Amino acid sequence: MRLDKLLSHAGYGSRKDVKKIIVSGSITVNDKVIKKVGHNVDPETDTIQYMNEPVLYQEYYYVMLNKPDGIISATEDREYETVIDWVELDFGHAQLFPVGRLDIDTTGFLLLTNNGQLAHQLLSPKKKVKKRYEALIEGVVTEEDIQKFEKGLDLGDFITQSANLEILEVHAEISQTLIHVEITEGKFHQVKRMFEAVGKEVIQLHRISMGPLKLDPELALGDYRELTEAEMDLLVPYGLE
Ligand code: URA
Repeated sequence: MRLDKLLSHAGYGSRKDVKKIIVSGSITVNDKVIKKVGHNVDPETDTIQYMNEPVLYQEYYYVMLNKPDGIISATEDREYETVIDWVELDFGHAQLFPVGRLDIDTTGFLLLTNNGQLAHQLLSPKKKVKKRYEALIEGVVTEEDIQKFEKGLDLGDFITQSANLEILEVHAEISQTLIHVEITEGKFHQVKRMFEAVGKEVIQLHRISMGPLKLDPELALGDYRELTEAEMDLLVPYGLE
């Protein structure tokens, strides 16, 4: 890997910034000053230092974000702030992208990574990765709705796979219901469309888990952190080495 690329990915600045650092003679590779920006290094075996401090290089990043309302699940956008803009200060160097999408007004668990293979596995329809949501519904959700969700709903362009719907709290006096729903697909506006199909409306939607990963209750809306070792172990069945 080129030295300038490695430094840039390790967070030492843009390619232009790191070029200056290298040319200034502050980088050593195996204790030898290297001033060639395109010098080839192997991050596994070479010892790379910046002003006598080791350069810590990480190829892949896995970031859990408790997505707030009002930002979009995209890498860039002209109009709206994206989830990638949101984590830019800490992970701007890592070329992250969101694993799947949440609507602009949906909050909760979103995984950001630069590991395309993992994202592919988690999003593959064949893997049927479970996505669990908590939602506040306009209307009183009934046992009949639970059965309809379980059987599959005809949304016009497709029939949903069996979904698990749980009623947590019914507030009949204001006609609202708090529920949990678990789906294995990830079609556009899927949960909102499923409730529309039974004559109800989603007021608030918050994702609480995706596959084996659960939203850390310590993360307030808008907070994010890298996955722990234990959480990364849970991703081994999805191809994480
Ligand atoms: N279903 C929706 O309707 N919206 C989301 O953001 C996620 C699932």
